[in-house]
Amino acid sequence: RREISSITCKQLIEKVPFLKREIRDGRDGLYLGKIATALIPATFIPGDRIICQGEQATHMFFILNGKVDVLVNGNVVATICDGGFFGEVALVANIPRTATVIAATPCNLYTLSSADFNSIIVEFEDMRERIDKIYEERMAKVRLE
Ligand code: CMP
Repeated sequence: RREISSITCKQLIEKVPFLKREIRDGRDGLYLGKIATALIPATFIPGDRIICQGEQATHMFFILNGKVDVLVNGNVVATICDGGFFGEVALVANIPRTATVIAATPCNLYTLSSADFNSIIVEFEDMRERIDKIYEERMAKVRLE
C-alpha cells in the first residue's frame, strides 16, 4: 500500500493535536514511521455518509481539512473540523458505531484501520491513555444527552 510522505505525516501530526505524542522517550522516529505506514488518505464530498450508526467498525478518521456532522438518531449532536478525529469509540469499546458521521464540506481525511489502531496503542501506552480519556469524555456527554 501507498505510504504517505514524512512531510505530509508531520503536517498532519502538527494539525491533529491528538496525534502528537507528549512523552519524550526517544521513540518519536519509530512512532512517525508507524503513523506514516498506517494512515491512508481519503476524500469525501458534502453529503457523504462516512460512518453509519449501528454498523460494525473498521477504521477511525483524522481530519486534515473539512467539517463533518455527528448525528445520533438523526439529530446533529456535534460538528468536528480540521484537526479533529472521529470513529474511535467503536474501536476502543468494541461496540457498533454510536453515531452517523456525514461530510458537511469537502473533506480530506486520513483513515486508520482497527488493526493498526490496536497495534499503535499496544506499542505506545501513552497514546492508549489519551484515547481512553477522550473516549470517556465523549461517552459521558452521550450519557448526559
Ligand atoms: P464511533 O462510535 O466509532 O462512530 C461514530 C463517532 O462519532 C464516534 O465513534 C465518535 O467519534 C463520534 N461521536 C459520537 N458521539 C459524539 C459526541 N457526542 N460528540 C462528538 N463526537 C461524537
